[in-house]
Amino acid sequence: MFLEERTAIAITPADAQQWARELYGVTVSAKTLPGEYDANFHLHANDGREFVLKCMHPARESAFIDMQCAALKHLAKHCQHLPLPRVQQTRKETSFEPWKDAAGQTRLVWMLGFLPGQTLVKAKPHSPELLADLGKFLGVMDVALCSFDHPAAHRELKWDSSRAGWIRNQVQVISDPQRRALVEYFVSLYGEWVESRADGLRRGAIYGDANDHNVLVSPAWPQPRRIAGVIDFGDMHHGWIVSEAAIAAAYAILGKEDPLALAKEIVRGFHSAFPLNEAEIAATFPLVGMRLAVSVVNSAIRKVQKPADDYVTVSEDGAWSALERLAKIHPRFAHYSMRAACGLRAVPTGEKIKSYLRQCENQGAKVLEADVRTAPLCVFDLSVGSTMLGANPANAEVHTLTRTLFESMEAEHVAIGVGRYNEARLLYSSALFGSEDAPTEERRTIHLGLDLFVEPGTAVCAPLDGVVHLLAENTAALDYGPLVILRHATQQEQEFFTLYGHLTRETLESLEPGQAIAKDEIFAHVGAIHENGGWPPHLHFQVILDLLDRGAEFPGVGRASERAVWTELSPEPNLLLGILTEKMPSGEETVEETLSRRKALLGGNLSVSYHQPLKIVRGWRQYLYDDAGRAYLDVYNNVPLVGHSHPRVVEAAQRQLALLNSNTRYLHENILRYAERLTALMPKPLEVCFVLNSGSEANELALRLARATTRSDDVIVLEHAYHGHTNTLIDISPYKFDGPGGGGKKPWVHVAPLADDYRGLHRRGELQLGAKYAQRVAQICDDLQKSSRRPTYIAETLPSVGGQIVFPPEYLKETYQHVRAAGGVCIADEVQVGFGRLGTHFWGFQTQGVVPDIVVLGKPIGNAFPLAAVVTTHEIAAAFNNGMEFFSTFGGNPVSCAVGLAVLDVVRDEELQNNALQVGNQWIAALKELQQEFELIGDVRGSGLFLGLDLVRSRDTREPAPEHASYVVNRLREQGILAGTDGPHHNVIKLRPPMIFSAANAALFCAELGDILSEDPAQA
Ligand SMILES: Cc1ncc(COP(=O)(O)O)c(C=O)c1O
Repeated sequence: MFLEERTAIAITPADAQQWARELYGVTVSAKTLPGEYDANFHLHANDGREFVLKCMHPARESAFIDMQCAALKHLAKHCQHLPLPRVQQTRKETSFEPWKDAAGQTRLVWMLGFLPGQTLVKAKPHSPELLADLGKFLGVMDVALCSFDHPAAHRELKWDSSRAGWIRNQVQVISDPQRRALVEYFVSLYGEWVESRADGLRRGAIYGDANDHNVLVSPAWPQPRRIAGVIDFGDMHHGWIVSEAAIAAAYAILGKEDPLALAKEIVRGFHSAFPLNEAEIAATFPLVGMRLAVSVVNSAIRKVQKPADDYVTVSEDGAWSALERLAKIHPRFAHYSMRAACGLRAVPTGEKIKSYLRQCENQGAKVLEADVRTAPLCVFDLSVGSTMLGANPANAEVHTLTRTLFESMEAEHVAIGVGRYNEARLLYSSALFGSEDAPTEERRTIHLGLDLFVEPGTAVCAPLDGVVHLLAENTAALDYGPLVILRHATQQEQEFFTLYGHLTRETLESLEPGQAIAKDEIFAHVGAIHENGGWPPHLHFQVILDLLDRGAEFPGVGRASERAVWTELSPEPNLLLGILTEKMPSGEETVEETLSRRKALLGGNLSVSYHQPLKIVRGWRQYLYDDAGRAYLDVYNNVPLVGHSHPRVVEAAQRQLALLNSNTRYLHENILRYAERLTALMPKPLEVCFVLNSGSEANELALRLARATTRSDDVIVLEHAYHGHTNTLIDISPYKFDGPGGGGKKPWVHVAPLADDYRGLHRRGELQLGAKYAQRVAQICDDLQKSSRRPTYIAETLPSVGGQIVFPPEYLKETYQHVRAAGGVCIADEVQVGFGRLGTHFWGFQTQGVVPDIVVLGKPIGNAFPLAAVVTTHEIAAAFNNGMEFFSTFGGNPVSCAVGLAVLDVVRDEELQNNALQVGNQWIAALKELQQEFELIGDVRGSGLFLGLDLVRSRDTREPAPEHASYVVNRLREQGILAGTDGPHHNVIKLRPPMIFSAANAALFCAELGDILSEDPAQA
C-alpha cells in the first residue's frame, strides 16, 4: 500500500496560527488551503508577509519533508531567478519541526514563503506561448535538479511515471467497458513506446507535479503572461526526467480541442531548456496519455474507497475526454509532431528515404510514359492567391476548372499540366476538408502530392519496383476516387509508399493486393471526371513514408498548422520525377519574407495590422483568405461595400478595361450615367458631380469648391477628425496634426468639440445636447464674422476615426444653420458611412435631417476600385468655375464609372441597405446583451453595419481601455475574425463589414467576442 492512503486527521486554522507563532515567532491569520493528505494554511502576518504553513499527515516520514526542503534550498541556490517557494527557518534554525496535534499525534510542521500568482487552472486563455513558457520553466528547474538527490526521492509513488505500470492490474476497477478499453490502449502504448525504450530515458530528481492547480501564472497584464512559479513539491521523486514535461502537458490539455498542439508547446519549451533525446521525445505523447490513465484509475480506486470525497475526482471528467481525444491521434503522428516541435526532422527515416528517391530519379523514375523531365509541360498556379482561379468558387467547379486547365495546356501546346506539391489551395471546398458551418475554422489546404493533368485514359507506370499494397475506391465528392497504393523499400529495407489517385475503375479490377509491379510497368490509367472523385482528369501522385495505419484514408491534403509534419510524411514527389526546378516556380514566399521585403522596399510608416501580420491573398464576399487558405470573417472593411470580388463589379471593370479607359477630355457616356445615378440618390440642390480617385482627392476638391465660394481660408473641423493624407487635409485633420509627427494647428483651422454624447463635453441625459454642441460652432462662426471671414465647416456625418460616433439629434441641423448664417459652406464627408451602410438612410447626413452644400464620397463607392466623388450645387460649382481648368487624369474614367454603376446596381438589386438595417439591429441587440455581461463594454453605438464598442476600464469613469481593445482585436484575429480599433484613445472596436454580412456572421462574431471577453486580459 502507498503511504498516502492512510486516513488524514483534521487540523484547524486556530492550530495553524498557534503553531506559526510558537514555531516561527510570527503572528498570523490563517486560512485553510485545499489538499489531499496534508493540512496546508495560507498565513497573513501582521507585517504584511504571507506564508504557507504545512502540517503534515502523521504518516509522513521526516525524510519526505527533508527531501522537499533540501530540494527547495538547492533550487534557491542553483536557479535563483526561478520564482519558487522559499523554505522558512524555524526559531531553532531548522527547516521543519515535529509538533503534537490535539489528538496527540505528531505532525511535522514547516513553512514556506507564499508565492503570489493565479493558478493555471483558473487562468484564461492558455496561450501556446504561456504553455511553452511552462515547459521552459520546468526544463530550467530540472537542469538544476540534475545535481540534486535525496533518499526519499527514491520512495514508491503512484504518480511516478516509471512505475505507472501498477495500473495494469487495476484496470478492472473501471466498470465501463469502453473506458476500460481506453485505459488499456494507453497502457499498451506505454509498454510499446516507453517501457521498451526505458534504457534511453534519463533519470533524475524531478518536481513531478506540474498540474494546473500547482502552476502559478503572472497577472493578466502586462502581456504576455509568464509562469510565476510552481508549488507543492510533495510528488517530487527520482524518475524519468521527460515525465516532468509529460505530466504538465497531461493537465494543460484538459478541456482543450487540440491536445497535441498544446502538449507540443510544453515539450517545445522543455526541450529548449533541457534538450531531450530521441527516446525521450518518443516517450512524451504516450506518457501524457499514461499520466491521465493513472489519474482515472486512481480516481476509480478512490471512489470505491471514499465515495463521498470530491477532491479525488477533481479532474476526472476532463481526463476522460482528453483520453478520448488523444486516442484519436496516431501515436506515430504525435511522435513526428513532437520531433518537429523539438526542431528535429519530423520523420526519423525521412532523409534516408529522400536520398533514395533522388537516386531513383537519377535512374529515370517516371509515372507517365512521357518523361516529365523532357516532355513539354506547363505548371499551374492553383494556390489561394492564383489569379488564374480568381476568388469566385464557381471557377473551381469541375467542368469550368477542367476547361480552364486543358485550354491553357492546349494554348501552350503541352499534353501535361503540373499542379504543385506543398501548395496551399482552396479547391477543397467539400465538407471532407473542413467544417461547413464554422467558416473561420482551419481547413485542410496543403497539397501533399504532385498533380499531373493529362487526358483521361493516360497510362500510369510505376516509378520503382513495388507491390500493390492497397486498392480502394473513395467515392466521397472530391476524394481520391479509385486509388492504388504501392509499397516499396529502399536498399536498407526501409519501407515507403507511393499513392496514385483519381484513376479509372478498370484499374482496380486489373490489380490484386500483393501483386508485384515492376519499374516502368503500366499498372493504372487516369480516370475521367465521372469516375475519378469529381476532378479535372489528373494523376495525384504522392510519396508516403508512413501510412499511419490509415490506408486509403491517408490524406492528400493537410492542415497548414501541421505543415512541418505532413510535408515530412509526404515528401516532394518531384524528388523522384525530376521535373526541372526552373520549370517549377516555387510557391508564395512566407509571411516573414514578405514582411522583411516590405520593410526594405516601402516607407516605414506604412502600418501593418495585428501583432502577427496577415498576408491576405484572396477575398470573396465577407471573407478574406490568407496565403495558407485560412478564411477570416471581415468585420472591418467597409470599402468592399457589396462584398470582396463581387462578380458583377469585377465583370464591369474587366469588360470596360478591355474596351477603353481614357480621360474626361473626350466625351463618354459612363461618367454621365454615373453622375445621373449618383445625383438621383441625393436631395436637391445637390445636382453637380465631380468624379475623382480617392477620398483625399475628393476632400481636396471639396475644400477648393468651398473656398471659391466663401473666399476665406478658414475651416472649422471637429476634434480627432481625419479627412485625408494630402498637405491641406493633414492641416484640417486634428487626428494627424495633433498626433505623432504632427505639426500642430494652422491659424486658419478652428477645432470644434466632437459631439460625442458618451465621453464628450455634454453627455447623454442632458437636454438639448445637439444644440449645445452646435453652439460651440456658432461661437467660432461669430469670431470669424468679426474679422469678415466666412467659415467652411467639414465633418463626417458619423465620425469614424473619432470613434464611431453618432451625433445627438439636431446637432448638424443647428450647426449648418450657424455656419450658413455666417455666410459659410457645409461639407459632409461621407467617405466612411455612405451608400446605405447605416440601414435607416442611404446617406449619413439624412440621419440628421440636413442637406449639405458639398458631399464627399469615397472608399466604398467603387467596392475597393479607386473611385471617389464630390456632389454639390450649381451655385458652388459656378463659383469654382473661375477660368482655371479642372482636370484629374484618372478621375471619372470609363472603367471607374462602370465600376461605380455596378456597385449601385448591386446595392439596389441585393437590397443591401435593408440587409444592413436588419442584420445591424440584431447585431446591436446581441452586442447589448454582451454589454450586460461584460463590464469592459462601456458603450454600444452606431447604426446598421456601422457600429462601435467603446471599451472602458471603468463604467463610472469611462476611462478608455486601449490595451484591452488591442488584446480583443488581436485575439479575434487569432480566432479568424478581422476587426479594428479606432477613436482618439484607440479603445473603440469598429465594426463595419461588407454590407452582405449575415445574421449568422453577427452571431459568430458575438460568440467569439463573448469567449474572448471572458479571458483574464479582457477584464475591465
Ligand atoms: C472620413 C475620411 N475622409 C477621407 C479619407 C481619405 O480617403 P483616401 O484614403 O481614399 O484618400 C478617409 C480615409 O480613411 C476618411 O476616413
